[in-house]
Amino acid sequence: MNPDNINLLFDMAGRNVKVAMDLLPSALSGFVFQDSKKNEVGIHSGHNIMYDWTYSNFGNPEFMNLYKKAKKGQWDSDDLAWDTDVDPFNFELPIFPERLQPMYGHPSYNKLDNREKGKLMHSTMSWLLSNFLHGEQGALYAAAMTVEATPWMGAKYYGSTQVMDEARHVEVFHKYLDKKLNKLYSVNDNLFVIIHALTSSAEWDIKFLGMQIMIEGLALGAFGLMYKVTREPLLKELLKNVISDEARHVHYGVEALRDYYTKEVSDQKRRDREDWAFEVSKLLRDRFLFLELYEENFHHAMKKEEWVKMVVDSEIMSEFRRTLFSRLIPNLKAIGLLSDRIKPKYEELGLLRYENGTAADRLTLNELLAA
Ligand SMILES: [Fe+2]
Ligand SMILES: [Fe+2]
Repeated sequence: MNPDNINLLFDMAGRNVKVAMDLLPSALSGFVFQDSKKNEVGIHSGHNIMYDWTYSNFGNPEFMNLYKKAKKGQWDSDDLAWDTDVDPFNFELPIFPERLQPMYGHPSYNKLDNREKGKLMHSTMSWLLSNFLHGEQGALYAAAMTVEATPWMGAKYYGSTQVMDEARHVEVFHKYLDKKLNKLYSVNDNLFVIIHALTSSAEWDIKFLGMQIMIEGLALGAFGLMYKVTREPLLKELLKNVISDEARHVHYGVEALRDYYTKEVSDQKRRDREDWAFEVSKLLRDRFLFLELYEENFHHAMKKEEWVKMVVDSEIMSEFRRTLFSRLIPNLKAIGLLSDRIKPKYEELGLLRYENGTAADRLTLNELLAA
C-alpha cells in the first residue's frame, strides 16, 4: 500500500478510532485491493428497506414541495445540442482555460509544443469529466438506496425523482465523454473510497451525509467552476441543466438531516458524524491530484512529490477548494455538524472562513452558476 495511505489511516485513527474503523473496509477496497481500477465491482449494502403500510408518515413537508418542483423541473437530455462540434485541441474556444491546467507555468509544461499542450488539455478534461461521471453513478445508486432506507413517504417520492435525475446525469456525462472526447479514465481511488463508504454503510444517514451533503457539495462546486470557465457551448448548457437538478438534491439532504442531527441523535453519534464528515472533507480537499495524468505523461519528467506540490498549489485547485468548501461548510453548519469542538480542525485546514456563507440549498440557480 502507498505509504501516504497508511499515514492517512493512522491520522484518522488518532482523531476518532470508531470513524477510522468504519472507513477501514472502504480504504482497503480502494487503496489496497484497487477495486477502483476493476471494470466491475459489487459493494454490499446492509440497510433496511423501510415499508409503511399506512402511508401516513410523510416526514418534513419540504419533501413534498421538492417533489412537486422536481416533477416540473425535468428536462430531456435529447434536447441538448449534441450535433455541436467539440474540438478539445482548440485553444481559441477552449473547453477549459489553459491557465487552469494544473501544470500551467511549470517548466515541464513550458517545454511542450502546441500539439502536446492540446493533448494534455484533452487528457485533463477527460480526467475531470470521467470523475464527474463516476460520482454521478455513485449518486444514482445512493439516491435509489435513500428511497428504500428512509422511513418517510415524502422522501421516497422525492428521492425517486432524484434517481431519474442522476440517471440523466450519468447519461449526459457518459455521452459527452464517449462522443466528444473519446477518452475515459477509471474512478479516482479517493472518490471510490468515499462512494464505497456510503454505499456499504447500513445507516441511512451516512448515505445522505456522504452523498447529498459531501459529494453533492463537491459536484456543485466543481460543476459551477467548470460552468463558469468553459467556453464550449454544449458542455456549458449540459452543466447548467445538471446544476439546476443538483441544487434540489443538496436541499433535500439538508432537509432530511437537520432535525435528525440537531434533535434526535445522541451527542456521541453526532460527534462521530462530525468526525466522519471531517475525514471526508480532508479526502476531498487534499487528494484529487490528477495522479493518473502524472503516471500517463510525466512520471519520467519529475518526482511524484513535485507533481503533488504543483497540483496542490495550482490555480485550479485553489479555485476548486474555494467553490467546494464555500458550498460545503455552510451546509455542514446547517445540519448541526459544525460544533465548537470540530471548528478548530477545519480552521487548521483553512476552511473555517466559509462558515458564515449561505448554505448551498439557499442559493438561487444564478448564484450557483456564478460559482
Ligand atoms: Fe447528479
Ligand atoms: Fe445529485
